[in-house]
Amino acid sequence: MSMDGRTCVITGSARGIGRGIAEYLGDEGANVVINYRSSEEAAHEAVDAIESAGGSAVAAQADVSNRADVEHMREVCHEAFGQCDVLVNNAGITADKQFTEMSREEWDRVMDVNLGGMFNCTQVFYDDIWNAHEGRLINISSVVGKQGNFGQANYAAAKSGMFGFTRTIALEFAKGGSTANCVAPGFTATDMVTSVPDHVLDRIIAEIPLERLAEVEDIAAVVRFLASEDSSYVTGEVIDVNGGMDL
Ligand code: NAI
Repeated sequence: MSMDGRTCVITGSARGIGRGIAEYLGDEGANVVINYRSSEEAAHEAVDAIESAGGSAVAAQADVSNRADVEHMREVCHEAFGQCDVLVNNAGITADKQFTEMSREEWDRVMDVNLGGMFNCTQVFYDDIWNAHEGRLINISSVVGKQGNFGQANYAAAKSGMFGFTRTIALEFAKGGSTANCVAPGFTATDMVTSVPDHVLDRIIAEIPLERLAEVEDIAAVVRFLASEDSSYVTGEVIDVNGGMDL
């Protein structure tokens, strides 16, 4: 599954699932753009980790909800490595509240990053992916987009929104030979989930047939497949990586 010479932009990749994806793709020989919003130090640590494993990486600051920032990220990418072959829209946030308590600001904040960020990045890198030999768009959604989750109406709506978007871009890309897919992780052991109180976490794990949270590597391995040439004939799909939560 070599990714030699392929350039991959992974949003929100200074930590968590994004960082895991960045390291997996870096290990396969890809040039990696580590995107961060404010955690510059963590982004540079991620770059160092990839470079010490023999890979190539550069850090690019951008709030994905800000179009000018994303255009700047494209400049950083082009300057360091040339056109982007693979874009992974991974950056995401939550702002949980039971729906009756949820403010319009909390709704908009989640939409701006989770859907607006995907809009900005996909549009800014669209021509790159189209012109790449078998370009790849990979959107990180969530099991919550399929099942809903108490207190996450905004997040669930944004994550299901990614499904329709991905299928549509898959159709638009198809003539050019590029693909677009979603990965829908289940509950994964990152800051986003481990900050949940222990008793809630225990309840979550009790609902997972494989009886554990996903590790970052479980998600990164599927993204690595979708980013590679091995997935040439897979497009418009939502790949669940959730320990059997749909069973
Ligand atoms: P995390 O909170 O550890 O990492 C998210 C990253 O996105 C952080 O580095 C953060 O700084 C960055 N980010 C947030 N807003 C940004 C913005 N406006 N611009 C640029 N970067 C921004 O979360 P985690 O768990 O690594 O999640 C990654 C993705 O996977 C998210 O889209 C999340 O919704 C999704 N996901 C996570 C699951 C989990 O259980 N942890 C389950 C299913 C999906």
